[in-house]
Amino acid sequence: MGRLDGKVALITGAARGMGAAEARLFVREGARVLIADVLEEEGRALAAELGDAARFQRLDVSQEAQWAEAVAAAEKLGPLGVLVNNAAVLRAASLEEMTLDHYMGVIAINQVGTFLGMRAVVAPMKRAGKGSIVNISSVDGFQSKNGLIAYSASKWAVRGMTKAAAIELGKHDIRVNSVHPGGIDTVMGNPSGAAREYVDPFYRNQALPRVGLPEEVAAMVLFLASDEASYCSGSEYLVDGGWHAGTRTESLPGA
Ligand SMILES: NC(=O)c1ccc[n+]([C@@H]2O[C@H](COP(=O)([O-])OP(=O)(O)OC[C@H]3O[C@@H](n4cnc5c(N)ncnc54)[C@H](O)[C@@H]3O)[C@@H](O)[C@H]2O)c1
Repeated sequence: MGRLDGKVALITGAARGMGAAEARLFVREGARVLIADVLEEEGRALAAELGDAARFQRLDVSQEAQWAEAVAAAEKLGPLGVLVNNAAVLRAASLEEMTLDHYMGVIAINQVGTFLGMRAVVAPMKRAGKGSIVNISSVDGFQSKNGLIAYSASKWAVRGMTKAAAIELGKHDIRVNSVHPGGIDTVMGNPSGAAREYVDPFYRNQALPRVGLPEEVAAMVLFLASDEASYCSGSEYLVDGGWHAGTRTESLPGA
């Protein structure tokens, strides 16, 4: 028995990184998955790897008109039960140097894309009788860093929007939660593809002193997507190696 047997999931930004790890795990656990992304070559290759249980659909999450097509493509696989709003971009600039176009570009994908995705699946999930929406925020949805004014704003927004949607949709047995990864070894988290021996030291002062793996986030997303999380909604799930808990401080005992 798979933990997602009989479920259909639409995962955005699933051509690579954490979205791809989720697609692989979901299929292994019995789901049929629509891989939605702007990266066509990578998305199609992953769908081919996963066989009959997966399809690829080109979707730019910031484009309202494309969502209806993506949802229709997912429903061809069966009643839509899971949406993972995972697609996002990290484009950094200082507050003084960030143009309005730059700022709005990040918000359009990370924040508006999540809104459009949640709105697009309400009717299909009502038809299906229940559903689970997992919005991928970040540890930067709790805190921030220099250079991340747009990214962090979008990820705080995702955390807030999750709660409003959860409160509205709970009466239809549609659950909505946010997941908050810390530093994860993907193109976004490790753009140069540096080896672990170079990446891990950046995390030496957090509780688990290493970078995280996409599969470690996928495990949490799987739980929230599955019926095991039937009483979980409107909540926040950190998968950050303890980053948000605080830092190891050499000058104090117990370091
Ligand atoms: N990697 C990290 O350290 C980290 C930390 C915290 C949160 N996150 C979040 O995790 C999620 C996954 O990130 P990742 O690390 O796998 O990044 P990634 O860059 O490897 O993958 C992101 C995917 O989103 C897709 N995408 C980008 N814009 C899109 C659009 N407009 N429409 C559709 N797809 C689009 C990309 O093509 C790519 O396939 C993101 O929401 C990210 O903000 C990542």
